[in-house]
Amino acid sequence: MKLLVTGGAGYIGSVVAAQLVEAGHQVTVLDDLSTGHADAVPAGARFVEGSITDAADALAGMDGVLHFAARSLVGESVREPALYWNHNLGGTLALLDAMRAAGVGRIVFSSTAAVYGEPERSPIEESDPTRPTNPYGASKLAVDTALTAFAGVYGLAAVSLRYFNVGGAHTARDGRSYRERHTVETHLIPNVLAVALGGRESVDVFGTDYPTADGTCVRDYIHVADLARAHLLALDACAPGEHKVYNLGSGAGFSVREVIEVCRDVTGHAIPAVVRERRPGDPAVLVASSAKIQRELGWKPERTTLPEIVADAWAALPR
Ligand code: UFG
Repeated sequence: MKLLVTGGAGYIGSVVAAQLVEAGHQVTVLDDLSTGHADAVPAGARFVEGSITDAADALAGMDGVLHFAARSLVGESVREPALYWNHNLGGTLALLDAMRAAGVGRIVFSSTAAVYGEPERSPIEESDPTRPTNPYGASKLAVDTALTAFAGVYGLAAVSLRYFNVGGAHTARDGRSYRERHTVETHLIPNVLAVALGGRESVDVFGTDYPTADGTCVRDYIHVADLARAHLLALDACAPGEHKVYNLGSGAGFSVREVIEVCRDVTGHAIPAVVRERRPGDPAVLVASSAKIQRELGWKPERTTLPEIVADAWAALPR
């Protein structure tokens, strides 16, 4: 297929773009490089530097879109909600309009666990209530809602993948490595590994008074290569007039303290930790049931254990 990958110069988008190229698709990456890196675009993909609000030219002749381009930090979204509503909702609506105008009827959308807010039960299923606790989750949920309506009325073929916490690095068949490298890093695993690498003295632990076993937040970590493979299955599962929604996680929860402990084991470094205040917008526990995508699309995680995720992220760091 001819595919447009928005945000394909970012961490997850570049891994998916690499897997799509390997699978024989013709891939064009559209990215404004606001958080991505031009050198993350895989060899074999065409790169267009630009915004999702101006995608008409890039969309010409496409069979489908994989839409990653977004702001994706919970804390930043609490401080700067306008950024999230404008970019994630406004930008995506503009992209969907341009798709309709260009006759492109298939989309795989990066949704998020953050749509569920504070869940009532764990693991979370796709039919559970969606009550986001931050603008990031709310903006993604608004797009999911629009996709359902667009599928019903305009015949769009849409799949939303609700990612839980993505980590690790991917080595492509050509030996190239794809890793997380945000200019301002807020994610737990890279921040912990930065301490092991010597770039920082200690890692912050945001809140130790959550209603969890050790008081720190619990998250469900999924390997970026496993997550990426789900997109290829989702692309094939797109059906006109349907909007399918799938969680993507491992079904296992790890606390912040447990993640730091695994990082100590993997790296052999002491990694001092300092307790800080809670970070606004963080739910206590987010763990996915991925039974639906396993059952319906045959997805199976291959490298999703926390030690494998951490080991791959650690091995990919430049020294
Ligand atoms: N944390 C720390 N110290 C740090 C960084 C994070 O204690 O230096 C804590 C956070 O407070 C949180 C947990 O570690 O409790 C995980 O935080 P991340 O920033 O790694 O990830 P989030 O859970 O906030 O968010 C990520 C993605 C979102 C997605 C969400 C779904 O960034 O896009 O997972 O679970 F919505």
